[in-house]
Amino acid sequence: MSETARLIFDDKEFEIPIIVGSEEERGLDISKLRSATGLVTLDEGFVNTASTSSSITYLEGQQGVLRYRGYPIEQLANDADFVEVTYLLMFGELPTNAELREAQAEIRRGRNIPQGVADLIASFPSHAHPMAMVAAAVVALSDYYTDTLDPFAADDITRASQRLLSQLSTIAAYAYRRSMGKAFIPPTDNLDYCHNFLHMLFGEAGETEFDVDPVLSEALDMLLIVHADHEQNCSTSTVRVVGSSDANIYASIAGGICALWGPLHGGANEAVVNMLEQIQGDNNDVDKYVDMAKDKSNHFRLMGFGHRVYKSYDPRARIVKAACDRVLDKLDIDDPLLEIAKKLEKVATTDEYFLARNLYPNVDFFSGVLYRAIGIPSNMFTVMFALGRLPGWLSHWIEMRNSPNKRIARPRQIYTGATTRKFVPLDDR
Ligand code: ACO
Repeated sequence: MSETARLIFDDKEFEIPIIVGSEEERGLDISKLRSATGLVTLDEGFVNTASTSSSITYLEGQQGVLRYRGYPIEQLANDADFVEVTYLLMFGELPTNAELREAQAEIRRGRNIPQGVADLIASFPSHAHPMAMVAAAVVALSDYYTDTLDPFAADDITRASQRLLSQLSTIAAYAYRRSMGKAFIPPTDNLDYCHNFLHMLFGEAGETEFDVDPVLSEALDMLLIVHADHEQNCSTSTVRVVGSSDANIYASIAGGICALWGPLHGGANEAVVNMLEQIQGDNNDVDKYVDMAKDKSNHFRLMGFGHRVYKSYDPRARIVKAACDRVLDKLDIDDPLLEIAKKLEKVATTDEYFLARNLYPNVDFFSGVLYRAIGIPSNMFTVMFALGRLPGWLSHWIEMRNSPNKRIARPRQIYTGATTRKFVPLDDR
């Protein structure tokens, strides 16, 4: 017999089923709670709430475990490439050689974005943040691909997903070029994902050859992999919530991009480098910033530290930190920000305040240093995160669509405002 918990309320006893996941994690299934008891639950920030069941990514925060479809992130970051991981997330299995070749070809084929979307990006002021351009361009795709908007049609969903996987890198590169006041470099058919992307970012119009140091394209590929999914995080939950209203897939992904932008989520990578630069300009005074972060009267936080789920070292941060050392060493780059980051990491991971609260570096703490080594400026860091997270968002959107339990996401509240009052006409107020 399956396990239950008992709730005693109003002198009555209610049985609450316990639901068990494939890694033995257990949760109360409260889907009948309100109809049975009249009660709702209150959980600000969803700290204790599983919004869905999912078979895509497993994350265990105490030990620092992350697996996509059962495969450890360390192995995927080391041995797979981003398109392979995209396939794994989307279809649940690693591709065969032939399947991978077809997936790569599919992504290459559809990289050109509609002229109207390129014009839209070009119409932004040059000071616009690339995240604003990317979000706007993604939602605009829905008006150019009206043949792929039906959330009930499997074929529409497949084609829309393909388009997004092909075109987000072009949109991202064009947003960067716009912010630099440079002409767009269209995608090149015969280049792989990262090589093509770096060409669109840093190439010159009309050139026929664009060499990329494989150390850099491999580092970029790894960064995309470690960002590819992270179960029900803020942006992925947003994608699911938007999609739950039967909004189209482009609108749902654009919603996720906006959620990612915030500095408490994907925007942290940009905020980390800004913080490191600030420390550098302040006599490298790491201790001062650690003290500021601990001071409750100051809203300053150590960016890139802490995580809602990880209560130990984020396994992705470990991978990115090792890659920083490797890449900067190979390229003979001496980045003073990496030294400051390491000093900060050392102080914070031995300080009682951070230990007591389980605040360790997260994926964004070292990623900015690596993006800088690749030549990507800090206002593009969160766009890079979005590029990596796209397959995760799509996989979750599709899982949500296919779930027999799908319902519109519509939380309840506990109302704390005024009780009924008599309206006072304007002249009497
Ligand atoms: N610096 C200093 N103190 C911190 C930090 C930090 N970076 N993060 C959390 N704390 C403290 C809080 O002040 C709080 O202290 P208290 O218990 O004395 O009040 C305690 O740790 C718990 O923090 P919460 O804000 O309740 O934790 P929550 O799970 O809500 O937030 C979050 C997690 C948003 C990641 C938070 O740690 C943070 O703001 N970190 C900095 C931003 C960041 O790096 N975000 C990226 C997250 S990873 C990602 O999205 C890819």
